[in-house]
Amino acid sequence: MGLSVTLTVNGVPRTVALDDPRVTLLDLLRERLDLPGTKKGCDRGQCGACTILLDGRRANACLALALSHDGAEIVTIEGLAQHEQLHPVQAAFIEHDAFQCGFCTPGQIMSAVGLIAEGQAGEDPERVREGMSGNLCRCGAYQGITEAVVEATRAVRGDAA
Ligand code: FES
Ligand code: FES
Repeated sequence: MGLSVTLTVNGVPRTVALDDPRVTLLDLLRERLDLPGTKKGCDRGQCGACTILLDGRRANACLALALSHDGAEIVTIEGLAQHEQLHPVQAAFIEHDAFQCGFCTPGQIMSAVGLIAEGQAGEDPERVREGMSGNLCRCGAYQGITEAVVEATRAVRGDAA
């Protein structure tokens, strides 16, 4: 019997046939749905490069089996901007030079979006650093990343107010 999984990805329902039950969400997004913005760093849950929003919460796509998340809602970096309008987190990353090579950046941004939605860190740089600690940056752009997340938190709160 053929296996398949149905997901809503960046607002679009997608059904994908699977020939292997061990396919991860990361490989499904990158290789089957042509969404390569989600990066494969370690492929073992240690770097955060593959961070997506899974049913509204940040998750490492390399650790999630696609079949286990049938029916889930997924947002990837490709789904953040709306009609050419950058998400406040994306805009803040540019404003604060929060990247160098950019490899970790999609994961950093998705993690920041999740962190802001969780509302745990607020505008406290120390708590932001702690909340973002699952996302590694080999270029060491941490200062800019923290500043960007703090500013984006303000922007998102301002929009919501
Ligand atoms: Fe998933 Fe590193 S690629 S955590
Ligand atoms: Fe190069 Fe973070 S910007 S790994």
